[in-house]
Order: sequence, then structure tokens, then C-alpha cells
Amino acid sequence: MFLLKNHLIYFIINKDNYFFILEVVGIMYKQFEERAEKIISQMTLKEKVGQLNQITITSFKNDFDSLKSFIREGNVGSIILASSATAGNDPQGHVNMEFYNELQKIAVEESRMKIPMIYGRDVIHGHRTVYPLPLASAAAFNDSLVEKCYHNIAEEAVSDGIRWTFSPMLDLCHDPRWGRMVEGPGEDPYVGARVAEACVKGFQGDDLTAKDSIVACAKHYLGYGASEGGRDYFRTEISDTTLYNTIVPAFRAAVKAGVGTVMSSFNDINGTPVTGSKKYLSDILRDKLKFEGFVVSDWAAVEQLARQGYAEDRADCTKKALEAGLDLDMCDKCYIENLEKLVLDGKVSESTVDLAVKRILCVKLAMGLFDRPYGEKVDYDRAEHLADAKALAAESMVLLKNNGVLPLKKDANIGLVGPFVTERRSLLGTWTLDGSADETPNFLEAMKSKLRGGKLFCRDLSGIFDNSSTINYKSDVVVLALGESYLTTGEAYSVSDISLSKDQLELVDKMHSMGKKTVGVIFSARPMALEGVADKLDAIVYAWHSGSETANAAADILFGDTVPSGKTAVTFPRKTGHIPLYYNITASGRPVDGYYGVNPQNNYVDSVATPMYPFGYGLSYTSFEYSAPKCDTTEIEYNDLLNGKSFTVSVDVANVGDYDGKETVQLYIRDKVASIMRPIRELKGYEKVLIEKGTTKTVSFSVGAESLGFYNENGDYVIEKGEFEIFVGANCLTENKITVRVK
Ligand code: NOJ
Repeated sequence: MFLLKNHLIYFIINKDNYFFILEVVGIMYKQFEERAEKIISQMTLKEKVGQLNQITITSFKNDFDSLKSFIREGNVGSIILASSATAGNDPQGHVNMEFYNELQKIAVEESRMKIPMIYGRDVIHGHRTVYPLPLASAAAFNDSLVEKCYHNIAEEAVSDGIRWTFSPMLDLCHDPRWGRMVEGPGEDPYVGARVAEACVKGFQGDDLTAKDSIVACAKHYLGYGASEGGRDYFRTEISDTTLYNTIVPAFRAAVKAGVGTVMSSFNDINGTPVTGSKKYLSDILRDKLKFEGFVVSDWAAVEQLARQGYAEDRADCTKKALEAGLDLDMCDKCYIENLEKLVLDGKVSESTVDLAVKRILCVKLAMGLFDRPYGEKVDYDRAEHLADAKALAAESMVLLKNNGVLPLKKDANIGLVGPFVTERRSLLGTWTLDGSADETPNFLEAMKSKLRGGKLFCRDLSGIFDNSSTINYKSDVVVLALGESYLTTGEAYSVSDISLSKDQLELVDKMHSMGKKTVGVIFSARPMALEGVADKLDAIVYAWHSGSETANAAADILFGDTVPSGKTAVTFPRKTGHIPLYYNITASGRPVDGYYGVNPQNNYVDSVATPMYPFGYGLSYTSFEYSAPKCDTTEIEYNDLLNGKSFTVSVDVANVGDYDGKETVQLYIRDKVASIMRPIRELKGYEKVLIEKGTTKTVSFSVGAESLGFYNENGDYVIEKGEFEIFVGANCLTENKITVRVK
């Protein structure tokens, strides 16, 4: 292991498998330990406990004198810039930087230790400029664009004095009923890991002290996305192999990318609340993942240990959380009220407190907060941010169906109907604290701006209309603006049915019965159940809640100014009753692998249970043809693999259609026989490439140890000899494969 600039080059030698891997672990917080320890040596116990306390100023109920003296006495390590526990859908005021700079001045000039406070806010998928919801932007499969957009977000956030964001949310999820699935990267651990890396790099950049850098927070660690039944804040049962192979990888990638902070999750795993779990917060996060930053609780999650039946009272909650490895207490005042006494009574050791303080100070030092404690504006180009938001929104949108009706002609007469014709707020999506609905173009405006000679006949509510209505008899084609409100998504907003609302279903039926060419544009945050809807529409564009530029990006796609290129990062089930439905399942011994089309009726007697749209799926206005994959070897020596050797799999992709277009080429593996059953397909590589019409591109993937192994129940990475099928294609159902043997 050695140091290079601020980064640690890390070799893991696993004696059992003789396996080593070269990892570049991001920013190293531990290098600030000496300075942190020096500060700690001068602190009183009370001041140390203050560093572990995060407050919301709303708890002071406008009594600013008390707030200021509380800070002056060294009781506050951090302030959350939110006024309520579920900030995602509750309106929050904008951040008043001058006011927070004034409070910071008290901490750095008037408190005895002069330690700056760190301000955190939920800057999730945008600030003033809002980008697609994470589940949508995962569908872009464009890491560099995501990274660029998250850097833009950082620029806007720091300009409001925000130096720490509670993002990215990395909860893998198999249940679209869960309102929070939309905040995360979807169902696939590999996508989760790539998204994690892109977001952390985008927010933090290479240098945390840079003026346009913001500290990221990987959340919700751990397993929150497995909340039973899609209910929020609910229990989970997760085996250790599922944990290591499915849930941990995105967090591992975030840590590797240098994420400064991690937020613990509300849920329990197998009966142990994560907030109070040494196994999750220390043994896995610190020892296995090598995380060096600090852990913040979720809002009031420390005190909830008592309600979860895991701690006796608030003092016990405090002891359990701190000793588990939870450093900063968000908003429930457990630490500030109990910790000093617990130490004085000999119930908690002061060295445990010191360790938590040290981790927090290391992050504050790493981000240069002591040298630059105040919020200051940075120059950024809003027009460029909006252009990037539109580009990412367009790449996130998925063309699910097209029988030739799209793209629309700009001189066509178009009927525009549905509840999302004039809607603005929902287009931004949940967890939009600072974006403005008023500044967000609606679909009507966007469609209007595209027409050249055509006319729009518009109705913004579903309403009843018949053959004689203007919309029907004057339009060449009808576009239905369908979807769901942002208020059916986000924290504490789960649903039990992922279908379109009844009035929208009636609207689709009505249009269908009138025999008009109909396009559905669906503004939604989760995959909705489209059985009974899709067959009545001639084309479907899944536009998601894609942020500030949702409507413009959707209109660009409808009129062919942008060729669609999004691919689903989550499976679309036909109906709610098919949940959970995800692609990387293990094989059944009986004929029920319905996802892959083998006797699908054996899954349920009352319905076909194959996905409506599988993982990785999306159409274009052009067509791509894949050659059979080629590999530079048919076998590889096990020891060569362990020593870092890889092989190359490549495929030729031809654009045989009429448009230049982007295609996300996907590589999946199947480890045919293993000591633990491996999934039928596992995504291990993707590359999005622009292919001009009439041309062919060769796309190559290097496949090595990091793609062929898995984690056992102890969290050790193992590779086993045997045959591996390597699939390369346009989505997870591809049968385009080659076999390589590890011998
Ligand atoms: C609760 C949410 O679970 C979390 O995602 C958020 O960051 C915090 N509240 C702070 O608002």
C-alpha cells in the first residue's frame, strides 16, 4: 500500500485464493488524523460531544439568541439545512447564505475551539437546475454525462453555502411500490456501482478543497431498499451473500471513489437496526470497505432504536449507536443530551467519543473547512447547466414501443391530452428542494415550440370527448401526457398499486376505441405497470420525472430532434402482483424462470409473468445489428486471472437504420456452476456508443477477475474454475453469447 497525491493505492492479498487486486482508493481522510488528534487533545468532553451533534435550526423555534449561544458554547458540529424530517416532499425554504455565514462566524470566532460547522442539505438530483431522478438518469447509461451534471449540481449548491450533500442514494431495490426506489440506481449492483462512482466524482471532484467541490454522502447504508412489501421504514431480511453481492457493491464503489460520508439507514436487517449495528457500521464499512470518512445517522434514527425494541431509553440508544460506529447524530439530540454523562459514569469510553470526533474533523480538514469556513458564490454557467440537464434528460428517456408513428412531423396536427399537459412540479420529481416549478417548461409549451406549420389541439385534463370533438377529428395523431404525481414517490410516499390512475386508464381506452394513432408519453418516477395500456398505444416514450428540462427533452424525442437512447435500469413488471421481478435471478430447478421466457405460465396460473420490458431494454429510431461476440481466448488459467490477466470480448454493432444513434452495448456473464448458485445473467460491462447510420463499430470489453467472481457469506471475493457464458447484446434477454473456461 502506498500514497500518491491524496490517494491511496491499495493492494489486497487474499491468501486463500492467492488473489490480489489493485484498487485506487479515493481521497484519504486518515492523513488528517494527526492534525485532528491535536485538536481533540485540547477539547473538553462537552466540546467533543458537540462535534457529534447535528441540529436543525427549526428546533430553536426562531429563538436565535439561544441558537447562537448554543453554537458559541461548542454544542454544534453540523447544521442540516432542512426544516422537516421528510424534506423530499415538504416545501423547504431556500438557504439564506448570509444568515448561515453569520452563524458560522460565531463557531469560528466566538466558540473556544473555533471549529467550523459543516452544513448539509439534501441536494439530491439537482439544485436550482434539476436533473433526472436517479432511477431515470441510470437509464442514460452515460457515466461521464452523469458525472458532469453532478459537478454542475455541486457548483450551484456551494454557491448557496452548501458544502455537504446527502447524496447519492444507492439503495438497490426490487420493489417499485417503494416510493424511494426512484431516488436510487435501480435493481442492478453493477449499475449501482458505476452510478455511485460517477456521482461521487461529480460532487467531490479530485480535490475536496476546491471551491466547486461538495462532500458527498452515500446513503442509506444499508439494505433500506429491501424494505418488505415496498413499505417505507420497514424491516428487511437479507442474507449475507445477497448483502455482499447485491447491496454492498454500490457503497463499495462510493468508498473507492473517496466518498467523505455515509448515512446509516432507518431499517433493521434480520432484526438488527443498522443504526446500532457494529457488524454493518464497523466490521463491513470500516474493516472490509475501508471507509475513512464519518457516518451520519438518518433523521432521528438514533432515538428510534428504542422504538425498534433494540435499546431501553435514549441513553441506551446513544451508547448503542456510538459504539456501533455512528459518528454524527442527526437531529434527535440523543448524543448531546446523554453522551457526556455516559462517559462520566464510565458507561462509554472517552476514546470511543474521540474516534467519532476524529473522523468528523478529518473530513472537515480534508475539505479545507478550517481555511475556508464561509459560503461563497462560484461562477457557473446556468445556460450550460440547463443544456446538460436537457442532454441527460433526453438520454434517460426510454422509447418502449414504436410502431412507426414516431417521430412526429412538425407540420402535423396533434391532439395533446392528459393530466400532464400543463403539469410542472411533478416533472422535477421528488427531492427537489431548490428547483422552481415556475421556471420549468411544461409539456404544452415544449410541444408548441417545436411545431413548424402544425397545430396543437389541447386539453389538459382527461375529460370525456368523442368522435366529434376537435381533438379527435382535427388531429392526425394524439399524444397522451400520462404519468404519476411526484407525491406518489419519495420518502414515506409508497403505493400499493403501480398502475396508471383509473381516469388515465379510461382515457387510454377511449382513445383506443376511437381508432386514432396515439402516442403515450409517461411522466413517472418508477416503472409503472403497463399491461393493458401498452397494446392500446402506438408508441410509448417513458419520459420519467426528468427535471428542469423534462418537457423540452421529451418534445425533442417526439419530433426526432433527438434519437432516443435510454435503456431501462429497472425491470418493468406487467402488473403490481408480479413484484418483485428483476433480471439477475438464480435459476430454478423447475421450469419457472419466467423472466427468461421458459414456460412463463408456470409462474402464475392467472397471468404471463415475463417482464413487460426487461432490464436494459430500450428502442431507437434507428436499428442496430449485433455480430456474434468474439473472444481472444477460449480459456484462461485460473492463476493468470488472479494475477491480473484478463481477456477481451468484442462485438461489431452495425447501425442499419436511417438515423445516427447511440446504443448501450451490454455485457453479461453467467457462471454456470458455482458453490453458491449464481444469477442467470449478471451485468459486468456496458458502453454507450454513437454509431452513425450505415456504419459499424466494434465494442470491446476487458473481462478479468473483477467480473468473474462473487462474494461468499464472509464477504470474501472468490473466483471458481469452470465455464462462464459471456453475453453481449442490447438488453438482458440477449442470447448472443460465447463461452470461456477458467481452468
Ligand atoms: C430522511 C431521509 O431518509 C434522508 O434521505 C435524508 O437525507 C434525511 N431525512 C435528511 O433530510
